[in-house]
Amino acid sequence: MTTTLHRHATSKDAIALLRADHVALGHLFTDYEATHSVPNKKALVAEICATWSLHAQVAQEIFYPAVNAELKGRLHAPEASSAHASVEGLIAQIEGLEPDGKVYDAKVKALADRVKRHVKEEQNEVFVRAKASAVDMDELGDRMAARIDDLRARRL
Ligand SMILES: [Fe+2]
Repeated sequence: MTTTLHRHATSKDAIALLRADHVALGHLFTDYEATHSVPNKKALVAEICATWSLHAQVAQEIFYPAVNAELKGRLHAPEASSAHASVEGLIAQIEGLEPDGKVYDAKVKALADRVKRHVKEEQNEVFVRAKASAVDMDELGDRMAARIDDLRARRL
């Protein structure tokens, strides 16, 4: 497959892109735990939800199908995992709520735990199998980066 995209020094391969999201999410949850300011909590949760939603969408649209095609359908669908489903469920509960106390903090804590489980599953299973496959991770990373730019532009 040929690509018209030009790689530059900051281009990341597909796995590096997804890992960078995992790291960013970890930092956002750490920042949440450290703050007592309601506006900060609100802003952090909005960023967590936006980061997760882009991350999940690009993985589901581009990364998982490409890897699964190469592995002839043998990739256990990460989006069908209980960690993924419970992240989605908690985000749906948290979005739109005001950060008004312990119940909210507990929900964010639960979300952090589920995201951690997702990260473990993905990094220990999916990425390992993806790396061992013949998928061109640089080309896939370029396609994902282009899709992320496109989705970000639409959401502005
Ligand atoms: Fe992930």
